[in-house]
Amino acid sequence: MITKCIFPVAGYGTRFLPATKIQPKEMLPIVNKPLVQYGVEEAMDAGLTDIGFVTGRGKRAIADHFDISYELEHQIKGTGKERYLDSIRNVIANCTFTYTRQQEMKGLGHAILTSRVMVGDQPFGVILADDLCVEQSEGVMAQMVKLYKQFRCSIVAIEEVPMADISRYGVIAGECIKDGLYRVTDMVEKPPADKAPSNLAIIGRYILTPDIFEILEKTPPGANGEIQITDALLQQAKDGCVMAYRYRGKRFDCGSVDGFVEATNFMYTEYYKHGKL
Ligand code: UTP
Repeated sequence: MITKCIFPVAGYGTRFLPATKIQPKEMLPIVNKPLVQYGVEEAMDAGLTDIGFVTGRGKRAIADHFDISYELEHQIKGTGKERYLDSIRNVIANCTFTYTRQQEMKGLGHAILTSRVMVGDQPFGVILADDLCVEQSEGVMAQMVKLYKQFRCSIVAIEEVPMADISRYGVIAGECIKDGLYRVTDMVEKPPADKAPSNLAIIGRYILTPDIFEILEKTPPGANGEIQITDALLQQAKDGCVMAYRYRGKRFDCGSVDGFVEATNFMYTEYYKHGKL
C-alpha cells in the first residue's frame, strides 16, 4: 500500500516574479484554489493521505493553508459562505502534513533525497504541483497506483510533446509493453531536439521505490549542475525496472505563464461555471 506523497515545493518560481517574491508559486490560485491544493486532492483521491512537503524559505503560507484558521472558521460559521471552505476542510480532515526544508536548491533529485526522512523505507508518490493534471473519472496518481500494484517498480508519467519543446523535459526511450506503457531503457534530462531519444517527456508525477534514495546519494550533479531525478531513475532502470506510463487526462504546465493562463481558462469554463470547483 502506498500512503505517502511528496511535494517538492522549494523552487523559487522566478518565471512568476514579482508575484512570487514573497508568496510561494504553489499558492497562486487557478480560479479560486491554490495550485498545490489541486495536487494534494489528486494524491488524496489516490489514497495517498500522508502528505510531505519539501519546502524552502518563504514557503510558510503552504503550511498555514493546510491548517485550520480558527478566526476564519469563527467568522463564517453558520453563514452562506461556509461552503467556500468545504474543499480545504475535506483535505485537512483526511490528510496528515509533514514538512522538511531543502536548504540549498540543488535540483529535483536533491529535493527528493531531502524527503527521505519523511518517507522511510516504502514506496511513495511524488507530485510537482505546477503540473496541474485534470481527469474527470480517475486522477493521474490513482491511475499510477493501480499500475504500481501490478509492477511493483518505479513509474514515471509521460506524454508526447512537440520536438520543439523537448529540451525542457526529461525524455525516455523504452520498450513498448502495451499501449501507453513502456519499460524504460534510456532517459535523458533536457536533451537538445537532435539528441532526444523520443518525443516522450516525463511530467510531474512519479511513483518511486525507496531504493531510489541510495542511488540519489551517489548521483553526481547533471544537467544545469543539479542532481537530477532522471539520472537516478536511469540507474534504477538499468539495475532493475522503471516503467513509463502515458497517463489519461489533460496537463497544464502552470510553471509557465502560458500554461497557467490556459489552466485558468479551462478550469473556469469547464469546472467553476458548473459549480464544480
Ligand atoms: P522548476 O524549475 O520548474 O520550478 O522545478 P522553479 O524553480 O520553482 O521555477 P522557475 O523555473 O524558477 O520559474 C520543478 C519543481 O521542482 C521543485 C520546484 O519547487 C518545482 O515544483 N524543486 C526544484 C525543488 O523543490 N527543489 C529544487 O532544488 C528544484
